Amino acid sequence: MEHNMKVAIIGSGHVGLVTGACLAEKGHQVVCIDNNQAKIRMLKAGRMTIYEPDLLKLVKKNYRAKRLTFTTKISTGVKSAEVIFIAVGTPLGETGAADLTQLERVAREIAEHLPPSRKGKSHYKIIAEKSTVPVQTGENVKACIKRYASPKAQFDIVSNPEFLQEGTAIKTTLQPDRIVIGVESKRAARVMCKLYETFGAPIIVTDINSAELIKHASNAFLAMKISYVNALANICELAKADVHKVAQGIGTDKRIGLSFLKAGIGYGGYCLPKDVAAFAHIAERLGYPFNLLYEVQRINRDQRTRFVKKIEDELWVLKDKTITLLGLSFKPDTDDIRESPALEILRELLAKGARIRAYDPKSCAQVKKVLAHKMLTYCNNLYVAAKGSHCLVIATDWAEFKQLDLKRLKKVMTHPTIIDGRNIFEPERMKKAGFTYRCIGRPYEQIADRK
Ligand code: UGA
Repeated sequence: MEHNMKVAIIGSGHVGLVTGACLAEKGHQVVCIDNNQAKIRMLKAGRMTIYEPDLLKLVKKNYRAKRLTFTTKISTGVKSAEVIFIAVGTPLGETGAADLTQLERVAREIAEHLPPSRKGKSHYKIIAEKSTVPVQTGENVKACIKRYASPKAQFDIVSNPEFLQEGTAIKTTLQPDRIVIGVESKRAARVMCKLYETFGAPIIVTDINSAELIKHASNAFLAMKISYVNALANICELAKADVHKVAQGIGTDKRIGLSFLKAGIGYGGYCLPKDVAAFAHIAERLGYPFNLLYEVQRINRDQRTRFVKKIEDELWVLKDKTITLLGLSFKPDTDDIRESPALEILRELLAKGARIRAYDPKSCAQVKKVLAHKMLTYCNNLYVAAKGSHCLVIATDWAEFKQLDLKRLKKVMTHPTIIDGRNIFEPERMKKAGFTYRCIGRPYEQIADRK
């Protein structure tokens, strides 16, 4: 490749690692940095710290080609790279604000290693925020670096937010809908556009504050769409309408769009919940109470409570009932259980005395680390999990669940009841197969009666 550049990425979590592997795949020379020695050792040995389809293959391929390397030393990356990404975690702090401790520490460390430019020898560097941060963080990063770096260090701060989706992270990084670059100088814009020139995606160049805001505003908008459709689903249940039809009916209007209109048990994961909270917090701090976002959060919380009530409505007393729980991760094709709605439901069912047989294609091991309970059995097969159960609850829409053999399932269950939190089946088909089937916003009886 003609324009291959030297890139350092600090923080080798989901975002850092995927970004590193994808930039290397595009021909750039990338060093991924993390202060967790065990993680770096694993990556060097060709083992993954997270499950993400195709990531291992991409990492191995580019590691072998020597376009992707790993280290624990920030100094190594800072010295050689033209673009230094900060991709560390910005978790939710106790007050609802984003906790920027790691970001500040990394900024300081970068500053200490920034080489001074001399006459005839420029060491211009770009320090790019990849981590999701509240608007105006760039100003603080810049001030921090200025404070700790040599006065002769030459650098620009850039905001280059990440829009990858877990489970399809490689595709959403290599073929993004858009790339957003927030800059303060034409020089920085030129370097960043060069870095992404082979991605074939529209590049939106803005100021830093706008780029930071775009990230929070995007995730909050997606969360709002999900809460909107979940509120619609609740109205559909009361009005005996079908949320699938309603979502299709509104979503085919191009101004609204069909995606992120799947009703269910609410959004989870590491990003949407924390970003909605952090966005509401920064808006309030700036002097604008963004009450719409509080309502989005309330609907989301409520959706889980309503779902557990739906299970209770069907089974009456949960104590000593055997319930099969399908799905533990916050969405399919990932082993990520952070803020997973499935986990919240699991905890609630256990608290109500139910006996749970849980199955997830990838994330049982993650859940085992945080949850052990005498009434909870982890199963390594869907049908084993369903054995002797009074009710099967679907909490994550893994493709495997959509393909399950209904006849076989019916044979192994004590009662053929399915409560589906992700609307993966057609109610009429389930009725024909002899199941009592409850889902979200699709009144089963009414649809069946219409026939
Ligand atoms: C989200 C955004 O979609 C990405 O664009 C962003 O880059 C990322 O956060 C981030 O900030 O890093 P992700 O957390 O991977 O990506 O998950 P989503 O695909 O957005 O799903 C979030 C949750 O919403 C899941 O629990 C999912 O099951 C739920 N969801 C999604 C619904 O309930 N209904 C839908 O229609 C869509």
